[in-house]
Amino acid sequence: MDTDRERHRARETAFYLFTQQSLPACKPVLTPGWVIAIFLFMGVIFIPVGLVTLRASHCVVEIVDRYDIDCVPEPSRMDKVSYIQDDSIPKNCSRFMKVHKYMKAPIYIYYQLDNYYQNHRRYVKSRSDKQLLDGQKYHDTSYCQPVESNNNRPIVPCGLIAWSLFNDTFEFIREGAELKVNRKNIAWKSDRGHKFGKNVYPFNFQNGTLIGGGKLNPEIPLSDQEDLIVWMRTSALPSFRKLYGRIEEDLDVDDVVVVNLMNNYNTYSFGGKKKLVLSTSSWLGGKNDFLGHACVFVGCSSLTLAIIFVLLHALWRHELFTLEQEKLFRVIRTRSTYI
Ligand SMILES: *[C@@H]1O[C@H](CO)[C@@H](O)[C@H](O)[C@H]1NC(C)=O
Ligand SMILES: *[C@@H]1O[C@H](CO)[C@@H](O)[C@H](O)[C@H]1NC(C)=O
Ligand SMILES: *[C@@H]1O[C@H](CO)[C@@H](O)[C@H](O)[C@H]1NC(C)=O
Repeated sequence: MDTDRERHRARETAFYLFTQQSLPACKPVLTPGWVIAIFLFMGVIFIPVGLVTLRASHCVVEIVDRYDIDCVPEPSRMDKVSYIQDDSIPKNCSRFMKVHKYMKAPIYIYYQLDNYYQNHRRYVKSRSDKQLLDGQKYHDTSYCQPVESNNNRPIVPCGLIAWSLFNDTFEFIREGAELKVNRKNIAWKSDRGHKFGKNVYPFNFQNGTLIGGGKLNPEIPLSDQEDLIVWMRTSALPSFRKLYGRIEEDLDVDDVVVVNLMNNYNTYSFGGKKKLVLSTSSWLGGKNDFLGHACVFVGCSSLTLAIIFVLLHALWRHELFTLEQEKLFRVIRTRSTYI
């Protein structure tokens, strides 16, 4: 009985406190001291983190070679589109890449395309994820327009993305000996395991009159066609890199790597650029100064703000103090006249 009443009262008081908005609450007051401390803390954290990231980024050695123009023979440079579309002209090309700094294996090989809008709305949608997983058992491929069937037979893999598969190839030679390129495990494991079927084989692919890109070996299931898997993870930006393979030998300073490439892919008709990139990696991935610069910038800004606030605070307190003092004196003076 007693406890019941107590509980009731407790509830009443809680209700009362709530309706009167006087419940105990945490009210963080941003006093000048706190604000200065927070900014100082941010500066102290961000600047070292930024410097460490910048250092990691500077340790990455990168060689970039743009080859799309130099690989077109002089006489054809005026009309590159008809050169690339003419199958009778051999497309082989040799490039020399000089190593300016020691590169530790694994050295990643990327191709970089610029001005290539893989994020275009109709391009991104032109694929069928269900078909990639189930093959011809899956019939509704209307998403794949305009590359869904050919001669009334379905295309596997269908859609514009697969159809425009990148098809330049690269071979690397150093001092007369071929550098082995590991082309395995270049795609995401989750893509290989869960998005591309293990029993789905390319069918009727690149078999029309208009050929958009690379062909696929019909004997190999889609889950092992890693170039396709890499290509089909579309890029969000018009300038992107995709992994081609890995060189698993170190390269020394002043080594010259001869690249024998097949310049097949047509980027000339829309003014795209093609580049070949050799890059080492750090714990942070590839070369990227942005993160480091951003961290240092935020850290420095915070420190500057902290200093400004310290100065303002000191100045303001001083003024306030003198103001209070004056008031006090005035009071004393008026009092003393009364006495
Ligand atoms: C292309 O290959 C042919 C024959 O294999 C060779 O004679 C020619 O020099 C090569 N062209 C270039 C640019 O490497
Ligand atoms: C490719 O197309 C031709 C007809 O243009 C057809 O005879 C052939 O069977 C097709 N190949 C495949 C793998 O479907
Ligand atoms: C490579 O792709 C281009 C289209 O970009 C195509 O015209 C050419 O026939 C393809 N070549 C090979 C060897 O697959």
